[in-house]
Amino acid sequence: MESASSRLTVIGIGYLGLTHAVCMAEIGHDVLAHDIDAGKIAKAESGESPFYEPGLEPLLRKHLELGRLRFTTSIEEVAEFAQVHFVCVGTPQGTDGSADLSYLWTATQELARHLTGPSLVVGKSTVPPGTARQLAERVGELAPAGSELAWNPEFLREGFAVADSLRPDRLVFGVESDGATELLRAVFEPLLTAGVPALFLDLETAELVKISANAFLAMKISFINAMAQVCEAVGADVAMLAQALRYDERIGARFLAPGLGFGGGCLPKDLRAFRHTAEQLGVGSVVDLLGTVDSINLSRRAKVTELARNAVGGSLDGKRVAVLGVSFKPDTDDIRDSPSLDVCDRLISEGAVVSVHDPVALPNAAIANPALRCAHSVCDAADGADVVLLLTEWSDYQAIDPAMLAKVVHRRFLVDARCALDAGSWRAAGWIVTVLGRP
Ligand code: UDX
Repeated sequence: MESASSRLTVIGIGYLGLTHAVCMAEIGHDVLAHDIDAGKIAKAESGESPFYEPGLEPLLRKHLELGRLRFTTSIEEVAEFAQVHFVCVGTPQGTDGSADLSYLWTATQELARHLTGPSLVVGKSTVPPGTARQLAERVGELAPAGSELAWNPEFLREGFAVADSLRPDRLVFGVESDGATELLRAVFEPLLTAGVPALFLDLETAELVKISANAFLAMKISFINAMAQVCEAVGADVAMLAQALRYDERIGARFLAPGLGFGGGCLPKDLRAFRHTAEQLGVGSVVDLLGTVDSINLSRRAKVTELARNAVGGSLDGKRVAVLGVSFKPDTDDIRDSPSLDVCDRLISEGAVVSVHDPVALPNAAIANPALRCAHSVCDAADGADVVLLLTEWSDYQAIDPAMLAKVVHRRFLVDARCALDAGSWRAAGWIVTVLGRP
């Protein structure tokens, strides 16, 4: 799956940018990737990913060795290297919930100022609608004649970033000219040839595809979690309900897993940024909808804290809680807006002593909350525990032997907040099991 080699650059080597740079090299391009953080660049140059992402490091090393991928902190070098430049810098949540676009503006303007010939600047960051048009105007002012800006939102999931980049469900482009369309078709030619659907849209619609996709996914998760609340009230089983709903192709099988809800570096912040945009646009229905999605999501964290409190007899003060899983979802070491970490904070604020285990995210968790006791095995985490909470559904946890774990805990209480364990086998080993949304 290789195209005729062409040169391109990637600015910003976070999750999005590093994955994009590596995958662009994988489909045959010569890639120069840039970041202002010299430490990150040095790490990437030595073949190490600054974050945990299955399958990324082998490809990174492969393309470093082949010489297809290089790194730099020099924007001048980037500007001279290629005609097509992907801007992949972060748009974190600002203090008022809106997206903080300062890195994006700085990176785009710096690049535009240094360009030496007609160029295509392609934004990939998630932004409020209207941002791309403003950036396009600025690129028109600063860059050499014939330069322009296009938008190419990215839909990759952490844990599946490489596969999502090499075999995306669709490619979405916001373009303003036939020239930009042709250049982008050439860059993504191997994916287009492999049959990936491509949509060439106006800038605003392209921006909105990403925002609304994330909002819809968040809404699906909050819908099933709201149904979990109904199930808890009437004694029904949300896991079986979700199972039955999935057969309906109009509803779809994915993003209906009930539990502790969504977190991570994208869904929560993009939801809040979209809500902020909708407020500014005066679209009250979207403001209300997204506000409800957010509050249902947060309510599950309070519910799990309540279940833990009830399990230990009404007060968490001085009680030992073992937490399994701290990353925001399995297969990542990312703890940004992790529902698990939020529950840990709540438990600690009520006086609990919290031991946490995670296959890869412990170093990040220790930095985020020094009050957490980091345990390097499930048994260590559970040693002397009054209650065990499964908060992130790493597949490793399905292999836990409940009888073995029963020997080390103080009391056999399990709260499965992700509907992930076989409650029957835990009960058979003498555990009292509570599963969110299940009787
Ligand atoms: C998300 C989008 O899926 C991706 O398209 C976008 O580019 C970035 O944001 P990611 O943050 O990697 O990707 O996580 P995702 O796999 O979407 O999961 C988000 C959160 O939802 C996780 O906390 C996960 O545990 C939770 N989730 C997901 C559920 O609670 N239930 C589900 O059924 C699915």
